[in-house]
Amino acid sequence: MAVTTIEWRNDSVRMIDQRLLPGREVFRVFHDYQGVARAISEMIIRGAPAIGVAAAMGVALGLKGTHSARAERRFAVVAHKLKSTRPTAVNLSWALARMERVLRASLDLPARALFERLRDEALAIQREDVAANRALGRFGMQLLSDPSVVLTHCNAGALATAGYGTALGIVRAAREAGKKVRVVADETRPFFQGSRLTAWELRKDRIPVTVIADNMAGLLLSRHGADCVIVGADRVAANGDVANKIGTYPLAVLAQRHGIPFYVAAPLSSIDFTCPNGDGIPIEERAAEELVMVGGRRVAPAGVKAFNFAFDITPADLVTAIITERGVIRPPLDRGLVALKRVLEGPAAAAQGAATGATFSAPAANASAGSYLR
Ligand code: MRU
Repeated sequence: MAVTTIEWRNDSVRMIDQRLLPGREVFRVFHDYQGVARAISEMIIRGAPAIGVAAAMGVALGLKGTHSARAERRFAVVAHKLKSTRPTAVNLSWALARMERVLRASLDLPARALFERLRDEALAIQREDVAANRALGRFGMQLLSDPSVVLTHCNAGALATAGYGTALGIVRAAREAGKKVRVVADETRPFFQGSRLTAWELRKDRIPVTVIADNMAGLLLSRHGADCVIVGADRVAANGDVANKIGTYPLAVLAQRHGIPFYVAAPLSSIDFTCPNGDGIPIEERAAEELVMVGGRRVAPAGVKAFNFAFDITPADLVTAIITERGVIRPPLDRGLVALKRVLEGPAAAAQGAATGATFSAPAANASAGSYLR
C-alpha cells in the first residue's frame, strides 16, 4: 500500500494519524516512549499487530542511552507504561515479552550497542509481521471462490499491521492471484474503522469496497449479499474463542444462520496459548464520549449513561477456520491449536502431538493450505 502505517526514522517513530483518516494524511513523530504510549491509547495507531510493533519501537526509544546495569529496571518502567495502554490485543504483551528476552540476552553490551540491538529487534518484529500477513494471505485466498464478496468488520488491513493486513491481506492475495474479490465493510461504530480506514486503504489499492452501517449485515446476508465473513483478531484463546472489535460476534451468529463461512485471520502473535478461553480475555472499555459524540456533535442526551465496550468474544464453535501464517486451523479449534503449539515448540513436541492424535500438522515448505484442511 502507498502509505506506511509505522516506521522507524532517525531514532524516532513516525506514524500516520489514523484518527484523521480519510480526511487528512497527517504523520506524527515520537521521540520517546511516553509519546508512543499516548499514540496507542489515543488510537493514533491501532490494530493489534500495529500496536505490537509500536510497543517494540517504544521499548527501544525508552532504553536509549540506558547503561546495561540499569536496563532491567528501566525496562520494567517502560514496559509497564506501554502495557497499560490497551488490554485486549495480546500482540502488545507478546512484543514486550520478546523485547525483554532480547534485553536479557544483551546485558553485556555497552549502552549504544544495547539500544541498537533493541531497535533491530523492533524492526525484525515489523518485517516479520508483513511476512506473516503475506503468508496467511496466501493460505486464506485459497478458501475464496472466484468471484466472491467478503464481508469484513473494523480494519484488519495494512493500517492495523506493519503492512498488507490480515483479513485484508487475504483479499489482497486473492486479487494478486487474479480472483475477482469485492469487499463489504461494516462502518464499525463508534470509531468507524470500517468506513474510514478499511474503505480508505482498499480504495487506494483500487479494490472494490462498499460500506454499510453495522445494522445492515443481517439484511445483506439474508439476501445472499456476501460469500463469507473474514475478520481479524486481537486475541485468540487456546480453545479458539476470538476477541475482536465489538460487533464481530453478531456477525458470526449471522454467518452461521445464513450458512456462510466465518473466517478469522490471525498471525501467531495474536494467539494466546496461556489463556484457556474467551472468559479470560480482558475487554477494554473506552470513554463514553467516543460513543455519544460523532464528529464533534452530541448524539445522545448530555449525562446519559453509555457502555463503550471495544471488543467482544466470538465463541470457537462459530468460527469456520483460523487462518495463520503456518496454515489453516479447522474445528475442533482447541485440538488444532494444541497441534500448532507443538509444531512451534519443535519436532519432539510435534511428534508427541502426533502420538496423541492432534489435528494440526506442519506442511512441507511448498505446501498449500490444503495440508491443514481436514
Ligand atoms: O480498536 P482497534 O481499532 O485497535 O481494533 C482493531 C481490531 O479489532 C482488529 O480487527 C484487530 O486488531 C485485528 S487487526 C489485524
